[in-house]
Amino acid sequence: MNLSRKTIVVTGASSGIGAEVVRLARFHGATVVGLDRNDPMLSLDGFVKADLSRPDAIDAAVRELPERFDALVNAAGVPGTVDRDIVARVNYLGLRHLTEAVLDRMPAGGSIVNFASILGGEWAARRDAHKQLAATVGFAAGLDWLAANPVPQETCYQFFKEALIVWTFQRSHELFMQRELRMNCVAPGPVFTPILGDFVTMLGRERVEADAGRMKRPAYGDEIAPAVLFLCSDAARWINGVNLPIDGGLAATYV
Ligand SMILES: NC(=O)c1ccc[n+]([C@@H]2O[C@H](COP(=O)([O-])OP(=O)(O)OC[C@H]3O[C@@H](n4cnc5c(N)ncnc54)[C@H](O)[C@@H]3O)[C@@H](O)[C@H]2O)c1
Repeated sequence: MNLSRKTIVVTGASSGIGAEVVRLARFHGATVVGLDRNDPMLSLDGFVKADLSRPDAIDAAVRELPERFDALVNAAGVPGTVDRDIVARVNYLGLRHLTEAVLDRMPAGGSIVNFASILGGEWAARRDAHKQLAATVGFAAGLDWLAANPVPQETCYQFFKEALIVWTFQRSHELFMQRELRMNCVAPGPVFTPILGDFVTMLGRERVEADAGRMKRPAYGDEIAPAVLFLCSDAARWINGVNLPIDGGLAATYV
């Protein structure tokens, strides 16, 4: 994988999968700038500390990012055990706000990779709602739509990962046609990171045990990072608007 001369911005760089993406990208020669609310414990070429749940903080962070970069990996995320307002802000509205704010910094051929989840797989069941939310322009308009269309706490993680997939499908087409940028999602299954336990709490024992019987084990973060960086690389230049499962085949067993 050739990432030399590429500059990549990675959100959620300070932990879990984002940190593995940082390590592998640097190994393959990329210049990597991390963005996270927590300080990083790994080598980076630059770091911006920011809270991605607040649009003003995102705007301030954008001013500190490089003038030009080739890829944006949106790995920051929170589990559904935190308040649904924060899940909405970090996993969807903030991700969208950051992405829209940096498009002018990305040259033709640039790539955006959004972290969805295997838990976003049922997006088609709520397609109309997700398209309505995707049609809102800006963070505040998204919050207004959510105030009028409340999302249950119990399924908020699934809802906003689904919404991210639908927004990615729709927006990626415009970005490719108008700016020659690509945008894709990845959909990991369970991964050994600090929030894996939150997913067990969130989903309940029955679902977790059912899934456990369908897979060898959860993934390690370094089994997710290579596919993410492939999507950032020029080798993926004709891959746009996909939601790529990285789950050891788990989603395929739901058929
Ligand atoms: N671990 C899994 O099983 C799993 C499965 C599918 C998808 N995912 C997704 O993968 C992505 C990475 O998750 P992970 O497992 O590496 O979790 P993690 O908790 O290890 O890492 C998430 C990172 O996001 C950062 N972050 C959270 N809220 C933030 C905010 N408001 N502002 C800035 N940074 C913030 C955290 O500080 C942390 O460094 C997430 O989007 C998650 O939803 C994880």
